[in-house]
Amino acid sequence: MNHPKSFQISRRSFLRRCGATAAASGLPLWFVERELALAAEPAKVVAPNDRPGIALIGCGGMGSYDAGNCRGHGDIVAVCDVDQSHVARAIELFGKDGMPPKGYSDFRKLLERDDVHVIVNGCPDHWHSLVNIAAAKANKDIYSEKPLTLTIDEGKHVIKAVRDNKVVLQTGTQQRSSERFRLACELVRNGRIGKLKEVVVYLPAGRREGPFTSQPVPPELDWGFWQGQAPRKDYLPQRCHQLFRYWYEYSGGTMTDWGAHHMDIGYWAIGLPAPTLVESKALSTPIPGGYTCISDYEVKYTYPNGVIFNVRSTPDEDPFGGVIKKEGQRNGIRFEGSDGWIWVNRDEIKATDRELLGKPLPEGAERLYLSNNHYGNLFDCIRSRKDPICDVEIGHRSATVCHLGAISLRTGLKLQWDPEKEAFTGEHAAEGNAHVAREMRKPYDYSFVS
Ligand SMILES: NC(=O)c1ccc[n+]([C@@H]2O[C@H](COP(=O)([O-])OP(=O)(O)OC[C@H]3O[C@@H](n4cnc5c(N)ncnc54)[C@H](O)[C@@H]3O)[C@@H](O)[C@H]2O)c1
Repeated sequence: MNHPKSFQISRRSFLRRCGATAAASGLPLWFVERELALAAEPAKVVAPNDRPGIALIGCGGMGSYDAGNCRGHGDIVAVCDVDQSHVARAIELFGKDGMPPKGYSDFRKLLERDDVHVIVNGCPDHWHSLVNIAAAKANKDIYSEKPLTLTIDEGKHVIKAVRDNKVVLQTGTQQRSSERFRLACELVRNGRIGKLKEVVVYLPAGRREGPFTSQPVPPELDWGFWQGQAPRKDYLPQRCHQLFRYWYEYSGGTMTDWGAHHMDIGYWAIGLPAPTLVESKALSTPIPGGYTCISDYEVKYTYPNGVIFNVRSTPDEDPFGGVIKKEGQRNGIRFEGSDGWIWVNRDEIKATDRELLGKPLPEGAERLYLSNNHYGNLFDCIRSRKDPICDVEIGHRSATVCHLGAISLRTGLKLQWDPEKEAFTGEHAAEGNAHVAREMRKPYDYSFVS
């Protein structure tokens, strides 16, 4: 076919751009071409008065990062935290045209505002569900940090609130909006490595430290509110900002922290929502009076289609040296099939041989949800009212896989799981099911947001 000259020039420059992007990213050219062609579709124009009002709830490290990324899509009109120094910092950070966002200490008050259309939930894990439920009931769309929940049972409540109120929820498992992970999952799903046999996820080890000494509560912090549903404890800086992730009271250790990301990718590639068997080995025990989460571990899941999903924590002095050194990274995912393997993490994608990545997928191959911008995808979906790439069910399912591993580690048991009933069955059903939900300390139970 003869193309006009201008088309030939732009086609040539498009191909040059694809070549440069492929070389810089290590992604195969055929994959980059499709990516860039789709990205070249005209961007949706957002009128100045079409900018949603955004509120940040939980103004710590990740919440502030998320809000910064959402800023291009709307205006931050309110910020909330139980630590007043974090509220003050966020007010300073997110002011626009001399107009600072209004600060709050109770998210329920903030949710009463009509000019808040979207919330960013950057709270610690033990607050995700109540904040998300309250936001859904107030008809706000949501960007929620991962893991979506603290317990498996919470997920059912969050799904109900989101679906009943028809709001859009994007889970902060942003690896699904990265080309590398999508390429790996598309290749696995389309049989490029033959029959998938094993997935190995390497997660950073947690912290094994303590005992810690109680300290006075800083005047700017509402420690009771911060602890929320968790059992009331004396204040320790190690329980609070950032470090909460190493306590089962508020989180699940690296099993749910980094696990939320890599287990989500494992789930995307395997395509089945949950395993039916989980067993584990704790490789260390927590120090009494210190962090409560098991820091070093191995977890093995068995899926109904026979796929084995192994999870290993990898301390700096990694005990699995050979395998990990070969892959050059401590942290990532390896897919092992009958005809080859693929290794992927945030920096690289590798495979048994170049051909495995370099050969284009055929016409009619299964292609996965395409998003190259996790925040942009949320705001597109806010306009279209479609499900975002990591919708509420996906967030719940990936968190569930992490929670199952943490429950097996905590109980030391091999447990059977029924993905339909979302309950443990078999010999140790009672011990497992005792961890599916937790008692929520009053007043911070579901009635707090009813
Ligand atoms: N997606 C990612 O790559 C990624 C990276 C880091 C953290 N995270 C997630 O982000 C969340 C926050 O982690 P972080 O490292 O930013 O922690 P952080 O301690 O820095 O921030 C949490 C903030 O929430 C506030 N907070 C606690 N309870 C609150 C409540 N009831 N109402 C309002 N504010 C409240 C805290 O005071 C703190 O300012 C965690 O769930 C974590 O898993 C995700």
